[in-house]
Amino acid sequence: MTTVVCPGSFDPITLGHLDVVRRAATMFDDVVVGVAKNPGKSGLLDLETRAGLVRAALASAAEAEPGLARVSVAVVPGLLVDFCREIGAVAVVKGLRGGGDFDAEQPMALMNRHLSGVETIFLPGDQRYAHVASSLVKDIVRHGGPVDDLVPAGVTEALRAALGQPAAGS
Ligand code: PNS
Repeated sequence: MTTVVCPGSFDPITLGHLDVVRRAATMFDDVVVGVAKNPGKSGLLDLETRAGLVRAALASAAEAEPGLARVSVAVVPGLLVDFCREIGAVAVVKGLRGGGDFDAEQPMALMNRHLSGVETIFLPGDQRYAHVASSLVKDIVRHGGPVDDLVPAGVTEALRAALGQPAAGS
């Protein structure tokens, strides 16, 4: 069995993230989504909330794509390479929306390989989601804008709650 990790901040998960996980699951037997802290980002949702939203998104998507039921989700407590070693993952799979993402990801990929030998596989992000970023989603919700077509069900409500906004319709 080949295990890979799809790591990320997932603060919150977007449809772009989900697309990358879905595509990883068509190629590898065992895909683990690793929800981790990025020290360069401030973070709105706590890690367990992020992981819960990823699990809910996968459970819902698995109704149409049963392969997604095999995907598991875990919080990465420390270094990604330690987590990969612990679960026996041979590679990290990351989506790239464009050159900016590559510039950010390449040093991490090289450092992870330096630290442990774990390889990183980059998947080109689907063009439908090239503009979708968790940071933009949060900013839009903060200002009362619509994001329901950018994120899985339940994410908007979780962001509104974290921002201290009233639930929609109340
Ligand atoms: O979604 P992001 O913010 O691009 O994901 C980056 C993330 C969380 C995968 C990265 O910051 C990470 O691996 N954090 C865990 C701690 C770690 O291993 N740091 C060293 C990276 S070389």
